[in-house]
This record gives sequence, C-alpha cells and structure tokens, in this order.
Amino acid sequence: MRISVIGCGYLGAVHAACMAKLGHEVVGIDVDEQKIANLSEATAPFYEPGLEDLLRDVQETGRLKFTTDISAAAGSSVHFICVGTPQKKGENGADLRFVDASAEALAPYLAPGDLVVGKSTVPVGTAARLAEFVKDVQPDAHLVWNPEFLREGHAVSDTLQPDRFVYGVEGGSEDDPAVSVLDEVYAVPLSNGTPRLITDHPTAELVKTAANSFLATKISFINAMAEVCEAAGADISSLADAIGLDDRIGRKFLNAGIGFGGGCLPKDIRAFMARAGELGADQALTFLREVDAINMRRRNRVVELTRDLCDGSLLGKRITVLGAAFKPESDDVRDSPALNIAAQLQLQGAVVTVNDPKALVNAAKRFPELHYESNLEIALNGADILLLLTEWQQYRDLDPYVTGASVTCRRILDGRNTLDPSKWRSAGWLYRGLGRP
Ligand code: UDX
Repeated sequence: MRISVIGCGYLGAVHAACMAKLGHEVVGIDVDEQKIANLSEATAPFYEPGLEDLLRDVQETGRLKFTTDISAAAGSSVHFICVGTPQKKGENGADLRFVDASAEALAPYLAPGDLVVGKSTVPVGTAARLAEFVKDVQPDAHLVWNPEFLREGHAVSDTLQPDRFVYGVEGGSEDDPAVSVLDEVYAVPLSNGTPRLITDHPTAELVKTAANSFLATKISFINAMAEVCEAAGADISSLADAIGLDDRIGRKFLNAGIGFGGGCLPKDIRAFMARAGELGADQALTFLREVDAINMRRRNRVVELTRDLCDGSLLGKRITVLGAAFKPESDDVRDSPALNIAAQLQLQGAVVTVNDPKALVNAAKRFPELHYESNLEIALNGADILLLLTEWQQYRDLDPYVTGASVTCRRILDGRNTLDPSKWRSAGWLYRGLGRP
C-alpha cells in the first residue's frame, strides 16, 4: 500500500520506518528540514534502540522516503497523522495546533476512498471534529482513530508487535470500509495474532488517555505506599513484590522511586482532566490531580533527603546526578524528574554535575545552567554524594568498591531502588533508597 506519515517525531519516524518494514511504500513528511535531512540519511533525530538499523534496512529497499513537501502525500491511500499534542503553555489542556495544521495541509491531496488515520493522543471529541473536516474537503474519504501505545526505548518492537490495535471508526461498526483498509496495513501483525478492537471515535480516543492514566495511577499508588513505608519503617520493594504476585494487581509499573516523567504521562493526565472539565465530568477525574501531586512530591522528597544525607546543608556540596533522561534507553528529557531534581539542588546551592549516556545534549538545551560531564569516571570524581535518578544499565553495573575509590564521600541515594543495598553498605557506603528502611 502507499502510505504517508505526517509528523516524524518519536511517533511518526518510528511508524514510517515500521510501515515500510511491513512492506508498504511510505513517505514521511515533516516541516522540520533538519529532521528530514537526517532521516533521509538514516540518522534518527533522537535515540531509539534499533531505529537507525531499521531506517537503513528499509531505505535500501527504496520503500521509505522523507520530505518536507506535503504534496508528496498525493497518491497515498492511507495518511497517518503522527504529530505532537504538547501541553498548552500556562494551561492543562492539549495544544492541537499541529494536528489541525496537518489535517489542513493534507486536505488538498485527499482522493476518494482515502483513509486519514489519527495516531496522536488527543482530547476526546477531536476525531469527530476532524471527521467532519475530512468529509467537507473529500466526501469519499474516511477518518479513523487508531491510537498508538508505544513506549520510548521499545518503540520499534511496540509498533511491529503491538499488544493490540484499536480502530475507532464512525459509529463503531465492523462493516465500516476503513476496517478492511487498516487490516491490510497491519496484515502482518494481525496474522501473527495481535488482537484488534473496533470502537467508535470517542472510545478509541479515550482508550489511549485511560491507559496512560491507569499507568500513571499505578506508579503514583506505589509511590504513595513508599511514603507510608518510609514513615512506618517498611520496605516498598518487598511490598511491591508481594502485592504484585496477585495477578489481578501484577508487578509491572509498581517500581517506586522518583516518579514518572516524559512527553506522555504527565501531560496526558493533565489534558484528560482539562477535557473532562469541559465535558462536565471533572469530578470523575479529580483523583488524577492527586496522582499528579504524589508524583511531583517525589522530586521534592529527593531534594529533602539529599539535604538530610548531606548533614543538613546543600551549600557547596558536590552532587553527581546519574541520569538526565526521563527513563533509560531514551535521550528524551521532557519533564524528566532527574533533571528537575538536579536543577532544584543547584538552585539551593549545591555544585551539581549531571552524567547520562545519551541525553546530555538535550539536557543542556533545556537546562543550560547545569554542569554536564559525559565521562562517567570524571563525573564521579570527588563527589560528596551520588544520586542515581535514571536506571541506565551502566549505573546498575557500578561496582561499589571501584566507585568508592573515586568519590570523596561514600553516600548514595538510589532514586530508582535498583541497586542492591547490602552490597553497597558492605562496601562502606551510606545507601539510601526511596521507601526503604
Ligand atoms: C508511556 C506509555 O507507557 C505508553 O504506552 C504510551 O504510548 C506513551 O506513554 P513512555 O512515556 O515511553 O510510555 O514511558 P513509560 O515506560 O510508560 O515510563 C513513564 C515514566 O514512568 C518514566 O519516567 C519511568 O521512569 C516511570 N516509571 C515507570 C516509574 O517510575 N515506575 C514504574 O514502575 C514504571
């Protein structure tokens, strides 16, 4: 099939490459010339494991092209909208200007029978509005909402072998002509057994926001338990293991620590609350305000704990922060708890050095006032305390004896509860986890 993918960020670049991998002829379109120039040379504009190899593979087949020219969408029968929906400045709602602009730019190139497929995370009601717009410009074209559930760091496999497909079609009917077209797009994963659900437009939009809200709630739940564990002298990791063995609860997404960040969960729960308010259903989601508050409180807690561990004062203390990305296997620093904590510590007089294997360039753009050191050994040198804030494998692999020889003071705060406390303590470290005695 001939496919266009509009928006080549974290979602679109991966989607375009994966659609070509599935055998389709794909053109990726973005307004950012630098991004398109990079992608055309099989260089990913961000770090995502496996993406560059995939780009190279599929570009060699000639099935994947990138351009800034939206007219290249002409001739494709399926058009994926993969642009960002960031949080509005100064408000909780989602900014839909990129979604609207891409629909408008695409409009002149829509032909009868074409499918416009929304993948971006949008407030419920957006699909119905866009469906009207599409009908106005091309009465024989259709709009489907087909949310994306990929995780950064696993984006390629999540796209090629997703847990499920959700097709939101007008009226939610199996007989909608869009269903067979999308089935053809996803023929390979469907034949491998990926389930697909047909819903109406609003349900498909809500599936995505509900899923992210549930994940955020799970993380904040365990972080709230961590607060209680700290007060009671209990251990959150054992507690999570024990409740996670109940398969109604499950152990995934029960890792207590400094909380969630990134370009999705924080802004999606806020946009969801804002949209529920517009719909008159704000009471239903007031608990998400608490989820958000618990999450943000983690960051302050780490600052306070660090102060305690530094004998009550942060002034002049040399703090090495291990990790800047919002999670490992990503160079994304959007709403990164690690960077937020690093910046707060520096504002309170600490001398902060931040290390990260992939995210330092992005981090320096967002927080230019922080000091960054890409060499881990140099970053560790002379530290009064280490803060492990993003659980990259190289930090998990640190040897407490070797590391102990570099630092000035053997103190470590494990913000992700990933190290073995007894190993570090027996090497003479003052080890502190979150929600652990
Ligand atoms: C999320 C959803 O998982 C994905 O389905 C959706 O499509 C986009 O949003 P992503 O933002 O890539 O994906 O990251 P995710 O793996 O969900 O992690 C989000 C944050 O939660 C990270 O900061 C991570 O460190 C944190 N987290 C995750 C925890 O603090 N504890 C956990 O147990 C799990």
